[in-house]
Amino acid sequence: MSFEGRDILSTEDLSKEDVLKIMNVAAQMENIVHTQHMSDLLADKMVAVIFMEPSTRTRLSFETAIQRLGAKLISVADPKTSSSQKGESLADMAKTVEGYVDCIVIRQPMTGGAKLVADAVDIPVINGGDGSGQHPTQALLDLYTIQKEKGTLEGLTVAMVGDLKYGRTVHSLSYALASFSPQYLYCAPDELQIPEKIIGDMQAEGISCQKTSDIKEALQADILYMTRIQKERFEEPAEYERLKKSYVLTRQLVEQGKDGIFIMHPLPRVDEITTDVDDLPNAAYFRQAHNGVFLRMALLAMVLGRA
Ligand code: CP
Repeated sequence: MSFEGRDILSTEDLSKEDVLKIMNVAAQMENIVHTQHMSDLLADKMVAVIFMEPSTRTRLSFETAIQRLGAKLISVADPKTSSSQKGESLADMAKTVEGYVDCIVIRQPMTGGAKLVADAVDIPVINGGDGSGQHPTQALLDLYTIQKEKGTLEGLTVAMVGDLKYGRTVHSLSYALASFSPQYLYCAPDELQIPEKIIGDMQAEGISCQKTSDIKEALQADILYMTRIQKERFEEPAEYERLKKSYVLTRQLVEQGKDGIFIMHPLPRVDEITTDVDDLPNAAYFRQAHNGVFLRMALLAMVLGRA
């Protein structure tokens, strides 16, 4: 199925063939960056990058991807500078911006907000993170990193650790990898466990899902996917304070785990991985962030009908 004109809202919408095609185009984009640095593939295109929540990686890697492909961009990096502050609805903003550009990349705090934008416009919309819902481009760059470094997406045991309730990256990762026969171990305090809907959806696909609160069990997986406790989603600050240091991965802990365990994190990290882990060869999180450019170049080229 062609990607031209498609929205990228949730990894639930992607088939195995879709994922493999995206991986393939991302590899082509990486080759373009390494050999030519810049391309004019999207030289006649304009993209709006609208971020209503803070971001370093997603926004800047999208902006890098847009510019490496020769497209032009307009952006909102701080919602205080947009007319949302005057009470304008997300749908009205989207309908306005649709008249300026060929594609919208949006991050905003409401779960389902990216779909609301996509429903309001006829140009492709890419979800850069919607509240505690989905972060599909993160999960796809996670898969790109795994395929590049582990050589396969098939049959992996993946432990996701931390805030699995509010953490949209683990929601997206669970669905993105679901066609590749994974086994999942969800490691979280009871209050922050993965939503039951996701467990049900995975089990319906025949995927083994275990839950634990003990990070030592997670250390036996092929892939250890650490996540930040999402302070901004808690209604009670005291509850965040109680849970914020639930898991701290140290080098000493890694050494007790499976040999060569592949350590990932969508970043930003706060306290959940100590910096002495960073120079282990199997600590992939900064390489993971760098791969975001290639993956986002691929998605832009695909939804704009150039790949
Ligand atoms: N991983 C991620 O979404 O990072 P940012 O919040 O910095 O974009």
